[in-house]
Amino acid sequence: MHITDIIIRKRDGGELSTQEINWFIENYTSGQVADYQASALCMAIFFKGMTRREISDLTLAMARSGDQIDLSDVVPFAVDKHSSGGVGDKTSLVVLPIVAACGVPVAKMSGRGLGHTGGTIDKLEAISGFRTEFTPEEFKRLAHENGLVLAGQSGDLAPADKALYALRDVTGTVDSLPLIASSIMSKKLAAGADAIVLDVKMGKGAFMTDVESARELARTMVDIGVDAGRSMVAMISDMNQPLGKMAGLALEVREAIETLQGEGPADFTEHCLVVAAHMLHLAPNDLDTFEAAHAAAEHSLHDQSAYSRFRRMIEGQGGDVTQVDDVSRLPQASLIESIPAPHDGYLAELSALEVGLAVVHLGGGREKKGDPVDYGVGIETHHKIGDHVQAGDPLFTIYANDPAKLAEVKTSLSSVAHLSKSSVEPLPLFYDTITGRPT
Ligand code: URA
Repeated sequence: MHITDIIIRKRDGGELSTQEINWFIENYTSGQVADYQASALCMAIFFKGMTRREISDLTLAMARSGDQIDLSDVVPFAVDKHSSGGVGDKTSLVVLPIVAACGVPVAKMSGRGLGHTGGTIDKLEAISGFRTEFTPEEFKRLAHENGLVLAGQSGDLAPADKALYALRDVTGTVDSLPLIASSIMSKKLAAGADAIVLDVKMGKGAFMTDVESARELARTMVDIGVDAGRSMVAMISDMNQPLGKMAGLALEVREAIETLQGEGPADFTEHCLVVAAHMLHLAPNDLDTFEAAHAAAEHSLHDQSAYSRFRRMIEGQGGDVTQVDDVSRLPQASLIESIPAPHDGYLAELSALEVGLAVVHLGGGREKKGDPVDYGVGIETHHKIGDHVQAGDPLFTIYANDPAKLAEVKTSLSSVAHLSKSSVEPLPLFYDTITGRPT
């Protein structure tokens, strides 16, 4: 086989065979296919697309390119979740303890922040001593002993995707539906889940900015999972405004703990209950309906069993539980300042993207790979789109450690929230749900 023949076939709108896709991934991973040739193929895929069969083949080939985790000897059934990334999206910190408390073990690998979106692993590392690097044996032991483990991505999970993603990032080929779907799903399949819940974000703070393209991405990923024998649910959720109130590493840990104690913001709490209910409903248990799964999830917040699971996970992974028991011991910002509403009105717009970028500017995210992060900084948004706000009410509170950055973010955020004289409809939490089960 020759890479040029494969590139030309796709360039001319042809369909690649399973053998050609496998050959490409194997030879790109081993270094026989050069980056410039892989870039040309990605660009051809960007313009000509792929069939469902080609996308599934590409996903499976990338999933096989490195370690494949087998959890079957430690947990009877593994359910995983994935969020396509957002602002204030601390959902995993709440959902996974809920699911574990309801009897479904969770062994999850999560990522670090990307661009303006925060990552679960960075957030958990706001807790002193919390470990996220484990050998496969330790990872499995924690899953078995605690029923809940949350770790960073193993170095050799889907290495073909890692290399291709870095290439796409610098060749204008990130936003190709077949390439995004296969990239996300290759990592999920390699991580060993039997069932997968996908939270596909849609809106100004997300990758997909309209419902139609989010629905197409969700449908494609559900199809890939079903073709690989997994039960799938994909929800399309709103990311026009931040989720919950807090965006920033330790601030989000604090909000997650409050939510686990039943005192979280209403939108974020309901979002978590819905995601958890889908995960519980996919698992083999007696929660036969989505409503029963939702009620069980809600109960685990009321009886504090989800909170206890979270606490046990922090302890089991070496974290300082005194910071969980007393959130004022989490890293704090030294400068706190609010931006008041200039006049009365209904909140009509509040860009999640701008809030996410402000958090990164304060030091709560990375401008380039490997940058250190400041755990204490972030932004609190006090209102949701549709709320009526009085002049002088705080719109945002900025948590900063650097006076110059505080001043810059104050300026950038003052034009981010728009207040309208006429009433504004609140935004829905979810726009659609797509399901698929293998036959
Ligand atoms: N996240 C991924 O893992 N891959 C993509 O291509 C896009 C988002």
